Amino acid sequence: MRQVNLAIIGGGTVGGGVFQALQRNGALMASRLGMELRVARVAVRDVRKARAVKIPAGLLTDDWKAAISDPQVNLVVELMGGTTTARKVVLAALRQGKPVVTANKALLSAHGKELFAAAQKHGANLYYEASVAGGIPIIKVLREGLVGNRITRLYGIVNGTCNYILSRMKLEGADFSAVLADAQRLGYAETPPDLDIDGHDAAHKIGILASLAHGFWVNPKQIYTEGIRAVTGQDIEFAGQLGYTIKLLGVVKRHDEQRAVQVSVYPALVPNSHVLANVNGVFNAVYVRGDVVGDTLYYGRGAGQDATASAVLSDLADAALDLKSGVKSRVAPFVPHERDGRVLPLAEAISRYYVRLNVADKPGTLAKIAAILGRARIGMSSVIQPEGHEGKSVPLILMIHDATNTAMAKAMSQISRLPVIKGAPTLIRVESFE
Ligand code: NAP
Ligand code: HSE
Repeated sequence: MRQVNLAIIGGGTVGGGVFQALQRNGALMASRLGMELRVARVAVRDVRKARAVKIPAGLLTDDWKAAISDPQVNLVVELMGGTTTARKVVLAALRQGKPVVTANKALLSAHGKELFAAAQKHGANLYYEASVAGGIPIIKVLREGLVGNRITRLYGIVNGTCNYILSRMKLEGADFSAVLADAQRLGYAETPPDLDIDGHDAAHKIGILASLAHGFWVNPKQIYTEGIRAVTGQDIEFAGQLGYTIKLLGVVKRHDEQRAVQVSVYPALVPNSHVLANVNGVFNAVYVRGDVVGDTLYYGRGAGQDATASAVLSDLADAALDLKSGVKSRVAPFVPHERDGRVLPLAEAISRYYVRLNVADKPGTLAKIAAILGRARIGMSSVIQPEGHEGKSVPLILMIHDATNTAMAKAMSQISRLPVIKGAPTLIRVESFE
């Protein structure tokens, strides 16, 4: 086979980026692969729409079924997003024995098991490098580079939009909504952006990484997910004064004693001395600890047209080489190897915490709070009442030692009912990367 004919389903930010990148580096890839990647069809919703990346009218169609069934097409690239029609697209292609490349983490999170089974049944592989961490080849790292390791820890900043927002809030004191609008304009955000802001996109990605790392398909419903809506400029500032940066962090921790894996997404205070605290803007980073290799770090742009296109091109190359050599799945999309895999409920996990309370500036307030924590056997490592806040209520910051999430939730519920507490307390976990 000298030529692979592509049907690209979706010609938006990523689809347009892939089309453009193939125009730019198609000849380079052909020389490296020994075969040409040719775009045969691009399916979109509206063929008349003005596009930032021009796609010749002769390639455009609004009929994705015809595009993937075109007899000359032998590789399908799903870049439309969503989980309903996209699922149909991927299944239809696989049923025709055509391999599929996708960037769709929401789809994999919701229907991964079904799609991997279909790929195996129909002898057509499914490639998804672009689904996690934009241009960082983290799927290849876990499936191939670290195949000889047990993964004990994996921490990821895997949502470019949230990292862009949190970075600009910290570095420029920028307003949340204005920065989100910029992230949308730059093509980083999902549609709707709630998928980013509420942590769901990061959960889709961290579930994929956790599944690959631990050999059982993690049910997305078991991933504790908290987004960044509640993170305020005030918390970012206080965390900074304490030597921390707030990041939306995906956390995958193997707990051998409980025979379970913690898989969660939440904003966390990251010590400024840790490399992840210095990952800013749209950049992502994934920190992986293997039992043989030790600590490793992968860094790069996590969202946007070109970064994502680069990851799709990597999959196109793998798929083209597999087609050329007639190998159905040199690296299968997902190989379960842990029959009894269990996700540790966050309630059972132990964390450290930053707590911000608004309290009445009266004698005895701290004693009441300390009494509740003391009864719960939860220790405080420091208490700070930042200066420059005067009035009926003032901020009080508590840094809390290790406690289970259950014990902490119970204590916080009691503290929030004290008459001296004004408004809802803020609780953010602190990650120590041990
Ligand atoms: P997008 O800009 O909204 O593009 C979606 C494309 O799909 C559009 O071209 C749209 O057509 C087309 N489409 C929608 N429904 C269709 C249908 N029924 N038939 C044919 N075409 C249809 O989205 P995107 O940002 O490129 O994202 C695409 C996928 O990549 C998503 O799964 C996303 O999660 C993933 N991803 C995105 C990024 C990123 O940074 N943007 C990064 C990694 C992964 P029209 O153009 O005519 O509307
Ligand atoms: N909306 C996603 C993000 C796109 O911001 O990370 C990349 O997957």
